Amino acid sequence: MAHPTPAPLEIQPSGPLTGRVRVPGDKSISHRSLMFSALAVGTSRVTGLLEGEDVLATAAALRAMGASIVRGDDGVWTIDGVGVGGLLQPANALDMGNSGTSTRLLMGLVASHPIIATFIGDASLSKRPMGRVITPLSQMGAEFTSSPGGRLPLMLRGICPAIPITYTLPVASAQVKSAVLLAGLNTPGITRVIEPVATRDHSERMLRGFGAKVTVEPSPQGRIIAITGEAELLPQEIVVPGDPSSAAFLVVAATIVPGSDIVVENVGLNPTRAGLFTALRMMGASIEELDRREVGGEPVADLRVRHAALTGIEIPPDLAPSMIDEYPVLFVAAAYASGRTIARGADELRVKESDRIAAMAAALGVIGARVEEVEDGMIIDGSGGDPLPGGGTVATLLDHRIAMSMAVAALHCRKTNAGAALTLDDASPVATSYPAFFSQIRQLQGDAR
Ligand code: S3P
Repeated sequence: MAHPTPAPLEIQPSGPLTGRVRVPGDKSISHRSLMFSALAVGTSRVTGLLEGEDVLATAAALRAMGASIVRGDDGVWTIDGVGVGGLLQPANALDMGNSGTSTRLLMGLVASHPIIATFIGDASLSKRPMGRVITPLSQMGAEFTSSPGGRLPLMLRGICPAIPITYTLPVASAQVKSAVLLAGLNTPGITRVIEPVATRDHSERMLRGFGAKVTVEPSPQGRIIAITGEAELLPQEIVVPGDPSSAAFLVVAATIVPGSDIVVENVGLNPTRAGLFTALRMMGASIEELDRREVGGEPVADLRVRHAALTGIEIPPDLAPSMIDEYPVLFVAAAYASGRTIARGADELRVKESDRIAAMAAALGVIGARVEEVEDGMIIDGSGGDPLPGGGTVATLLDHRIAMSMAVAALHCRKTNAGAALTLDDASPVATSYPAFFSQIRQLQGDAR
């Protein structure tokens, strides 16, 4: 799972991007489709699963706890579930690789089973805060022995029956919300999460699809999500829509590279995920939705994106939860806009796969962008659409989204006689969420010739 050998990669400036590509399956939905199928009674099938390292880490962990998960030659995954309450004691530590979603959601699942599991991960994941899930899961009766600061490696002793709780999220986190709801699946009674700020709602949608009793009600404190425990999940046929967070890189690439005109097919447009497209349109991007439809219970469309001149704006902080993974590539768009972009209220970026504010400020500085790092975001004075100077090596810090954002930034750097627009010190993290990224970029470049 870990990448002991870094893979440096030079990226060249690009001509126009044209043609059509279909982005791979949504990472959040892929994790959940495996987890819920593993807890259903019977056989589920998943089409369009993201076959990235993060999702494969979830699959391996679920197998280690008794589920059968098999990929067919046709790319369809078949899962035989163990039933809610049926997870088995894993023989070895569960290796979560780079994946925070695998870790936090599976901690929720294990918490209400009578099993003990040890969670380990790579250097990036081992720095990330798990206290945010340890706190509510401890209230439900699970016990933890964690590394200092509530970090991995950690050992979790689940409890059955667990105690249903009502938990108000102190941070806007779909992972924490989902961890509590998943623990609630095997907990007698009703477990409630109060969400003051709405975050991605894939767990709620999909759990309902699997037959769990999940209600969502507004209240003065926020959305109250309630799950009735000791649920029986019914096997499903799932089609995973394309990942808007992966599409984001192509959308920004086509927006900043003059002459580009692409169609990104099958992009999930759940409103709790689509904030980047709203922000880019506010900046002047040309993003047209074609053939809006529903896939797997989620809104989907093909996006036609043409190059456009962008203008800096103040990014509304209330968009943050719906574009939390897209800030790195938004910073790239802003670096090529006219005028100033102010992106604040995104402190959560500091505890992602890397400190994404510091990482992007450093990386954009390397290619000559004018950026100022602030505690909760970034202030960027854009180039007015002109190519940035480029040059130098950027550190990707085991963070796929830093690697892909900077690869996109490189596409509109100045052409030099010698050398690349920039060098990624390690491109291997891209495989965690978007293994086809570089080949899809090449495909869009090739179509232009
Ligand atoms: C995710 C939620 C987000 C996001 C992550 C995936 C999920 O994290 O950054 O990539 O699948 O629930 P937080 O909920 O911690 O913000």
